[in-house]
Amino acid sequence: MEFSQGFISAAYIVAALLFIFSLSGLSKQESAQTGNWYGIVGMVIALIATIADERVSNVFIILVMMSIGAFIGLRLAKKVEMTQMPELVAILHSFVGLAAVLVGMNSYFEVDHNTASNLVQLGGDLLPQMQMAMNIHLTEVFLGVFIGAVTFTGSIVAFGKLRGVISSSALMLPHRHKMNLAAGVVSFILMVMFVHNGGGNFPLFLMTVIALVFGWHMVASIGGADMPVVVSMLNSYSGWAAAAAGFMLSNDLLIVTGALVGSSGAILSYIMCKAMNRSFISVIAGGFGTNVVINNDVDYGEHVEVQAEAVADLLKGAKNVIITPGYGMAVAQAQYPVYEMTQQLLAKGINVRFGIHPVAGRLPGHMNVLLAEAKVPYDIVLGMDEINDDFADTDVVLVIGANDTVNPAAEEDPTSPIAGMPVLEVWHAKNVVVFKRSMNTGYAGVQNPLFFKDNTQMLFGDAKDSVEQIFRAL
Ligand code: TAP
Repeated sequence: MEFSQGFISAAYIVAALLFIFSLSGLSKQESAQTGNWYGIVGMVIALIATIADERVSNVFIILVMMSIGAFIGLRLAKKVEMTQMPELVAILHSFVGLAAVLVGMNSYFEVDHNTASNLVQLGGDLLPQMQMAMNIHLTEVFLGVFIGAVTFTGSIVAFGKLRGVISSSALMLPHRHKMNLAAGVVSFILMVMFVHNGGGNFPLFLMTVIALVFGWHMVASIGGADMPVVVSMLNSYSGWAAAAAGFMLSNDLLIVTGALVGSSGAILSYIMCKAMNRSFISVIAGGFGTNVVINNDVDYGEHVEVQAEAVADLLKGAKNVIITPGYGMAVAQAQYPVYEMTQQLLAKGINVRFGIHPVAGRLPGHMNVLLAEAKVPYDIVLGMDEINDDFADTDVVLVIGANDTVNPAAEEDPTSPIAGMPVLEVWHAKNVVVFKRSMNTGYAGVQNPLFFKDNTQMLFGDAKDSVEQIFRAL
């Protein structure tokens, strides 16, 4: 069955709108599922319209390839753990990058550039419009292949680092910034040559090699600490690579979708950098923060230990309780007992809410997903900005496996590596109980003065065990 071009364009517009609704739905927990459905329906419409295009000569091959892809994708998605999500996303980005390179190469070799370049070399003139169209096409090919190649190798290195098969420490080659700059400048000169000469295999292939090495080197020189920002940055690149492929294939939907992915990835990278007090440019330039000297010799005084039964008593006497989860809750998989304990406290008429820091855990939205998985109602899960003023009126704060995100040094110590990072101001509450296994530091490797404050007590042990003990004591 073949559809007319008008029908296909209409289907593309509907699909593009559904993608926009999908993104807007995904920005809130309550509407995330609906947002997902918009995206699924939009993609089904887009696929049907694309396959039914009269320019598609062999639908059978496409269907076979799609079935194989869908089979592998479904299996992977079912198996993947929440903590492995960034590596899955990274490897998927590498496919988008590779696709953009292949589409670019194909689009270049498909068009007969010989006539054009011979004419240019013989000093002949192309019609101005033809010349313009050719230049635009060549620029699209060049940029598409460049972005695609950078995304391809960059994403493979990001995948390797997250998986642990490549060392997560930053590769510090001498003159690395100069090398990156040189790669950019040489690629630009090659692009001018490529477009001016009406094409040419040499500049295209040389640039592809440079871009592949550049992508690899750029991500290799970024430390494991900044990897989630890098993954969201590569997400943005993969969007632009898809948009470039859309231009080459004259496919409006691919252009719109690529631009949506590209811009949302860029916004997400920016938000993450801001919440971690990192400069986006420094992350991209690589190696930032690796030279910070962390001084953990300061004497903060003594910490006070507490047992689960005493915490249960504290909770029984409380009116307002806030739980601030962090990476440790994910490690311990404590979200289920946390939900049970919350239900128990709510049943006793205690006002329990959750305070979520934007970078609590190891990937954006990590805590929200875990809590939603355990069926914690959305309306008691609040963001940092929504809850930060309420700590002063709170009787008990339970800090479950969080550390850096509740560290007062971010506000009080200008020399701290996390100085300036916005944090949950839990120390304003009457009582703070910190659930962790030891006095070890968190992700940033800095000591937390919260543990030594007069109103703080430490409940040592695996977070899941500790919460279960409190549940029983309640
Ligand atoms: P962290 O600062 O990493 O602290 C986690 C705490 O959990 C540690 O103090 C650890 O102490 C404790 N813990 C680990 N396993 C535990 C277990 N089984 N039971 C009980 N406690 C356990 O976590 P956070 O407060 O969520 O902060 C997140 C950090 O990651 C920030 O520095 C952030 O910048 C960074 N980061 C976040 C992201 C995103 S996008 N979310 C991306 C990259 C980096 P013990 O070892 O003593 O138990």
